[in-house]
Amino acid sequence: MPEIAAPRGTRDILPDEFAARKWLLDLHRTVVESFGYRPIETPVVEATELFSRGVGADTDVVDKQMFTFEDRGGRSLTLRPEGTAGALRAVLGAHLDQEIRPVRVHYAGPFFRAERPQAGRQHQFTQVGIECIGDRSPELDVEIIEVAWRFFEALGISGIRLQLNSLGRPGDRARYRTALVAYYTPLEASLCDDCRRRLHTNPLRLLDCKRDAGLVKHAPLLWDSLDVESRDYLTAVMRDLEAAGIDAVRNDRLVRGLDYYSDTVFEFWHDTLHGAQSSLGGGGRYDGLAELLGFPAAQATGYALGVERILMVARDLGTVPSAGAVTDVLVCSVEPAQAENAAGVARLIRRTGTRTVLDVADRRLDRKLRAAGRIGARVAVIIGENEVAGDSAVVRDLDGRSQQTVPASELVATVDRIVRGAT
Ligand code: HAM
Repeated sequence: MPEIAAPRGTRDILPDEFAARKWLLDLHRTVVESFGYRPIETPVVEATELFSRGVGADTDVVDKQMFTFEDRGGRSLTLRPEGTAGALRAVLGAHLDQEIRPVRVHYAGPFFRAERPQAGRQHQFTQVGIECIGDRSPELDVEIIEVAWRFFEALGISGIRLQLNSLGRPGDRARYRTALVAYYTPLEASLCDDCRRRLHTNPLRLLDCKRDAGLVKHAPLLWDSLDVESRDYLTAVMRDLEAAGIDAVRNDRLVRGLDYYSDTVFEFWHDTLHGAQSSLGGGGRYDGLAELLGFPAAQATGYALGVERILMVARDLGTVPSAGAVTDVLVCSVEPAQAENAAGVARLIRRTGTRTVLDVADRRLDRKLRAAGRIGARVAVIIGENEVAGDSAVVRDLDGRSQQTVPASELVATVDRIVRGAT
């Protein structure tokens, strides 16, 4: 029978990679909690409508990339392609915004998009994100960007290129839509099928097209459709970013791939990644989303970052710390006859919180001791016939290569001393 492999576009995370992910996830939590963000977890599967209404029916994410299925009751469900709509639903559904405003939450977990898999693009990937819900100000947009910036600093990742733009408010976008339709209508015959449809349903999405990129280059700029208030808002964000010591590039073509944004949008690019996968993460303000989901209006802003892509960059830059030892002590029997005694000793040592691996396999002692080195143990405790008879154990310091026989009553203290480097 053929071996069963992991589904296309998914990967196993094996123990060595776990250490790097843990490093990243721990740092993210530390940084966001230093800004007052609290953890939240939402289901990985949601009603399809959450995304078709929230993210937008004409976006690539909803149109082409969702894993959607029917449950046994015929309801349409989708593996979440992103976390903002779910986080907003959870926060507003629980009325958290009536206790404190704004509500600051953070999350980490798996997300799913049916994109063509390649380096930095998978069907299942991991995001960390934050959402700040219930208020609106340039300072809050800057806070979101600064949190991500401090996180990249904590990871030791330099060379981030922050791209910033404004999508304005609904009135601005209506003006821009008119300008786009005026530009694209005479070109309709030369557009790809998707774009021809989007010209009539959602013209802003014409700017996402890779096939008609030549036309995008000469399309009208959003900035020209923004009113004074929207321009002032973006200017205030740029000014506050400068005060925070964060370099931003205004990118007139940045529109993001999701429909829920208004005003500030941003992405974090890095040159180590190429082409469409150059973005380590992004986000922006989404003041209209709450109402699209059927809730009272709630202004909000946030970001999400791709964990796998960030790890690719961190590895490239050499900032990922090497995985530490997985254990402190190896307890082994010389022969199978001492297996039970060795297991009892291991149990005793573990009780003090010391990481202890038991090896009572029927193989030679030198092999067991070599394996102890490979898993990073500092101490080997050896139980043979003599030790069982004398109620003692041989304790070997694997760093110092010294060895002593200690009575059972002193064993835990002796091991503890060596593990903590107090010999
Ligand atoms: P997004 O730009 O769609 O934003 O995704 C954020 C990041 O997730 C991307 O920059 C990328 O690093 C990672 N990512 C996306 N798709 C894939 C994939 N197929 N494989 C690997 N990594 C991927 C959002 O999801 C918004 N919810 C961000 C946000 C939060 N806006 C406001 N609040």
